[in-house]
Amino acid sequence: MSDVALIKMHEGFVYLFLISLFIKVTLLIINVELFRVVRNKTKIVEMILGSLLLISGAMVWNAVYSFDMQGWILIKVVLMLAGIGLTIVSFKKESRPLAFLSVLIFVFIYMLARNHVAWGI
Ligand code: HEM
Repeated sequence: MSDVALIKMHEGFVYLFLISLFIKVTLLIINVELFRVVRNKTKIVEMILGSLLLISGAMVWNAVYSFDMQGWILIKVVLMLAGIGLTIVSFKKESRPLAFLSVLIFVFIYMLARNHVAWGI
C-alpha cells in the first residue's frame, strides 16, 4: 500500500473514531439512559476501532518516518494513550467533565496532526 493510501486509511479510522466519540459524549451529556444502552451495544466496536486507530497510526509512522520518534509524534502517542484511558474512566464513572476533557484531547491531537509542520514541531 502506498504512503498516501495508508494515511487516507488512518484518516478514515480517525473520523470513525471521532464521530463515535462525539455521539457517545453528547449522549452522556444529554441522555444518560440512552448513553448506557448505546455504550453496552458498541463496546466491542469501540475496542476494535481504538485498536485500528493505533495500528494504522503505527503503520503510517513506520511507512513515512521509519519509526523515527519526532516530537509531535511523541506528544501524539502520549496524548492518545492518556485520551483513551480518560475516555474509558469517564464512561465508566459517567463523568461529563472528564468525557468532555477527553473530547478536547482528541480534538487537540487532530489539530496537532494537521498543523505540526506549521507549528514547527
Ligand atoms: C498512537 C497513535 C497514532 C500515531 C502513531 C499516528 C501517527 C501518524 C503519522 C506518522 C501521520 C503522518 C503525518 C505526516 O505525514 O505528516 C499521521 C497522520 C494523521 N493522523 Fe495520526 N497517529 C496516531 C493517532 C491519531 C489520532 C488519535 C488522530 C486524531 C484524533 C490522528 C489524526 C491524524 C490525521 C488527521 C492525520 C493526517 C494529517 C495530514 O496529513 O494532514 N492520528 N498520524
